[in-house]
Amino acid sequence: MTAILAVLSLIAIVGVVLWRVQDIPQLPEAVIPAAQVDALFKFLTASAATIFIVVVGYLIYFAVKFRHRSTDAADAVGIQIHDNRRLEFWWTAIPTIFIVLLGIFSVRIWYEVQIQPNSGLVLEAIGHQWYYDFRYPGVHGVVTDEMHLPLGVPVTLHTTSQDVIHSFWMPAMRLKADMVPGLINTLRFTPTRAGRYKIICTEFCGTLHSEMQKQVIVIEPQDKFNAWLNGWKKKNAHASDAIPTASAANAPVNLSGGIASSGQQLFTQKCTACHALGPFSQRVVGPGLRGVLHDPSHPKLVDGQPATPDNAARIIKNGFDGDMGHMPNASQNALSDKDIADLVAYLNTLK
Ligand code: CUA
Repeated sequence: MTAILAVLSLIAIVGVVLWRVQDIPQLPEAVIPAAQVDALFKFLTASAATIFIVVVGYLIYFAVKFRHRSTDAADAVGIQIHDNRRLEFWWTAIPTIFIVLLGIFSVRIWYEVQIQPNSGLVLEAIGHQWYYDFRYPGVHGVVTDEMHLPLGVPVTLHTTSQDVIHSFWMPAMRLKADMVPGLINTLRFTPTRAGRYKIICTEFCGTLHSEMQKQVIVIEPQDKFNAWLNGWKKKNAHASDAIPTASAANAPVNLSGGIASSGQQLFTQKCTACHALGPFSQRVVGPGLRGVLHDPSHPKLVDGQPATPDNAARIIKNGFDGDMGHMPNASQNALSDKDIADLVAYLNTLK
């Protein structure tokens, strides 16, 4: 029986070692230390498979071999064994050695991920309900939606959150950090494979938690990355570096100077998770917004007020609770008064 279990264990170990985790479509090895994390994972899987096969194998074997037979007395009791020093020594020693090995193996990888000095590109990722902002050296304000990284350059990524706890997971990188308000958790890695990879939030963070898996990391050659970064430097040349905060809660928003094209961009970033561009009845979470300020069949907004730009701005600024659910206010959505003016200018063009 021991020989059979040893052979089965060996087959399992060889199977795990030969298994190419990186062939799973979502799990390319796109950074250092993805391969090291996979090796640790395989070590754990092979160990667990061996323990499972030996324990369950003997369990089944003993259950069959020492079963109650019809020739046994009805009150028969099996052989009672106490104090087997040799057995006790080995079942203490083997798990101890295993745990120490596992500790050495995982601390080495943890060291590689966490304790390297800052070098290369140093970035910040900030979680919001329900998207991520990124701050790049030399770029004012924030970059939303996509995190671009140059190939082969070490990255230090400081993560935090502006509202609730999110989690920043990059399956292609085998790295994950909780994003906690007031706390900075740091990830370090070096992108080694060009491509587009998903970022997924893995901490339930509110009604649209499931939307936080649409954003991506783009890994590209240095010159393409430089072009992208310079584009943002120009685009955000006049953006504020201050973390957006709500101005006086009930002060009306000055709508003059709102730019519809900027509003359209904000709309796709911040609004489309809940609002379609279809008619009022095309509800996602909130109502469809096509013609919201110009639809004679809906002369009023959800709060019962006339559909005017000022009233729309007030809803965006203060949020709204109604029978369609909850719309976060401008501070929760990280919208400045200028952003609201842009958004309303855009809504005004929808007819
Ligand atoms: Cu953010 Cu879930």
